[in-house]
Amino acid sequence: MPSLAEFIDGRRARVEFEAIKLDKPIALVDLPTPALVIDLDVFEKNLKRMQSFLSGHGLGLRCHTKMHKCPVIAHQQIAQGAIGVCTAKVSEAEIMQAAGVLDILITSPVSTPDKGERVVGLAGSNDSLKIVVDCIETATALNSTATKAGCTVGVFIDLDPGMGRTGIEPLQPALALGRHIRDACPALRFDGLQMYAGNCMHITEYEERKATYARLMEKGRQTREMFEADGISVPVFSGGGTGSYDMESELGILTEVQAGSYAFMDIEYRDIASRTGPQFDDFPPSLFVLVSAISKPQEELITVDAGFKCLASDKSAPEFREIEGVVYQWGGDEHGIIELNNPSRQIALGDKLEVITPHCDPTVNLHDFFFPYRNGVVEEIWPISARGCSQ
Ligand SMILES: Cc1ncc(COP(=O)(O)O)c(C=O)c1O
Repeated sequence: MPSLAEFIDGRRARVEFEAIKLDKPIALVDLPTPALVIDLDVFEKNLKRMQSFLSGHGLGLRCHTKMHKCPVIAHQQIAQGAIGVCTAKVSEAEIMQAAGVLDILITSPVSTPDKGERVVGLAGSNDSLKIVVDCIETATALNSTATKAGCTVGVFIDLDPGMGRTGIEPLQPALALGRHIRDACPALRFDGLQMYAGNCMHITEYEERKATYARLMEKGRQTREMFEADGISVPVFSGGGTGSYDMESELGILTEVQAGSYAFMDIEYRDIASRTGPQFDDFPPSLFVLVSAISKPQEELITVDAGFKCLASDKSAPEFREIEGVVYQWGGDEHGIIELNNPSRQIALGDKLEVITPHCDPTVNLHDFFFPYRNGVVEEIWPISARGCSQ
């Protein structure tokens, strides 16, 4: 009988990290559905566009892997020039590190001894592992766990941009934590600041988004100045996301951007404005759930085999790629019911259709594999190795 730790290690040892080449390519339309598919032409352009934009503006890209949970993709992002990755949780970091992705920032703090030990376990064999801290008690606890293990853990101080989710209040409280780490936590290495204003990322109007974001981030700039005036150098300032990527260089606060969704995109992001127009089309959707039409219970309805179990949403309904005149209604766990309002193409039973996901991150977490395709053909599958890793 295994201990819990042995059981977790054993499970991780069985996780696949690499692309699995199919012995025979399979046509997209022959995939069993529902299937999470990636249009490689669009996806690769999205990766290149973000990387070249940020590099061209002197900013680092630290991709957030909470969105794709896939080491195959993380390695591609790093190969294209990303300086490293973020993970939301310790268990995601365990997967990335086991898969050889080493420059990791865990963007949520931990407060319990078990998590502290897991963080120290990772840092013991990886100097490039970093985690955010946001209060004196948890910094002290992490310091003593690291001291016992004889290792050093890199930490970023997480600043609350007013979201009230995680992070210490900027300015004086953050400085007090910085001093505490410097003066009383020899097993912690202060690597920088994090400030992620997720509350701004989906503000619909571009100028309003930019003004709100700039106002909230200003306290981050002032905090960095206070640290430096106190002799605590801030080598890295991490934060931002897809919704702020083209604001960061003008603001001049962050040194690296934690963008995630840009690679896949979704309806929630598509429906905000960009710098140039009413839709955020800088990065078109590259991720779709391939579904099959399975039933036609009424003349104006057709049902597909994908409901809440493979399409996650906080607010929007899924939409079909390149089909007008159809409305997806949730049909429960397993089904979507499509209202046919003079559809731009006929949909017959057995047809396979691509659905744009309302929210990419939680949708990915419902699937085991990506099926990437080009020219309508899938040649390999990519395991979503950190699927379910919410610990
Ligand atoms: C801490 C943190 N940084 C970055 C991101 C990435 O944001 P986006 O997917 O908008 O690029 C997220 C997303 O939720 C996040 O929680």
